[in-house]
Amino acid sequence: MGIKAVIFDLDGVICSTDEIHYRAWKAIADAEGIPFEREDNERLRGVSRLRSLEIILEKAGRTYSPEEKEALAEKKNRIYVDGLSAIDPSSIDPGARKALDYLRERGIKKAIGSSSKNTMRILERLGIRGEFDVIVDGNDIRRSKPDPEVFSLAADRLGLPHGECLVVEDAVAGIESAHGAGCLSFAIKDARKCPLKDYEGEDAGDIVPLLERLGR
Ligand code: BG6
Ligand code: MG
Repeated sequence: MGIKAVIFDLDGVICSTDEIHYRAWKAIADAEGIPFEREDNERLRGVSRLRSLEIILEKAGRTYSPEEKEALAEKKNRIYVDGLSAIDPSSIDPGARKALDYLRERGIKKAIGSSSKNTMRILERLGIRGEFDVIVDGNDIRRSKPDPEVFSLAADRLGLPHGECLVVEDAVAGIESAHGAGCLSFAIKDARKCPLKDYEGEDAGDIVPLLERLGR
């Protein structure tokens, strides 16, 4: 089979922290009187904390100074980190659990490629930090998705040709990043609308039938 490793995005793929991000940003937007709905939230998938704030501020009635932006991003992160106290091993997406078990049984490598600086905290709360061969997160990169850096670095650290790595993503920005890095991509949720995807499914568990098919 051509696929030697699977690189998972974290938020919205391994667990529903995308919902905790949304609620934290909603609290910030409401307090600032800025319109922010779920539809707006789709654009925040995969992009950095500061870029997310800049997208939200597009609908603000005034401009914000760099200091104000920094303060709002920090406030959002405090609300978000508070929200993370609700997650535990039972929060792992059942499809992601199925995929991780399948990959372990088959000896296929597993990695995380996330824009989040909270990645380690989340993986520890989920109790799965040790399951990954490679973890690349928001602290390791200079340019967030859709830039290819995160998946390029993950594939390099896996020591594999990029075209032998399959990226699982819920974000359009993430599919663009995977494509730019020369990796194959599997789109779920909002990412399915991205024309650059190679494969798609309902959740991360749907990579199992794909890998079975490709393996034949
Ligand atoms: C990504 C999320 O995984 O991480 C984005 O999809 C988020 O919505 C980004 O903005 C950065 O996360 P954090 O935890 O560093 O604020
Ligand atoms: Mg995501």
